[in-house]
Amino acid sequence: MPLIALGADHAGFALKEILRAWLERHGHEVLDVGTHTADSVDYPDYASAVTDALLAGAAERGILVCGTGIGMAMAANKVPGVRAAACADAFTARMAREHNDANVLALGARILGPETAIEIVRVWLETAFAGVRHVRRLAKLAALEQKEHRWHVPAH
Ligand code: RB5
Repeated sequence: MPLIALGADHAGFALKEILRAWLERHGHEVLDVGTHTADSVDYPDYASAVTDALLAGAAERGILVCGTGIGMAMAANKVPGVRAAACADAFTARMAREHNDANVLALGARILGPETAIEIVRVWLETAFAGVRHVRRLAKLAALEQKEHRWHVPAH
């Protein structure tokens, strides 16, 4: 079973604790990068801690929890080679693995109950990448990381 790096901000802290217990109970080795309290923190710091663990080979998959899953997915997807998917149901979790080979799962503690979150994690962990035509598409995702991107108008 893959070693899982697990991270959350304050909004995701309580759900992270529930997920860690569930993962460990089901035999997964978990690297918990924090946060370890409900005090306000910044989600990019924890997304970065999880992606650092992936880059270092200290974990094979990552799970990130914030309020919506959106900020964590945005932050993690800045890192080349990371394919983070914010999933709010089991179907998207399955597709994120089968079609997108998502190596990071982002969850929203303010939109998911613990049982739904656990079901999403279970499906995401159990589903394999389908390969075939999706390999070509992942190669195009990787090519986007190599391309030079320059805004010609102010980005925001
Ligand atoms: C924190 O209030 C919240 O903005 C954060 O957890 C997350 O939902 C961001 O995407």
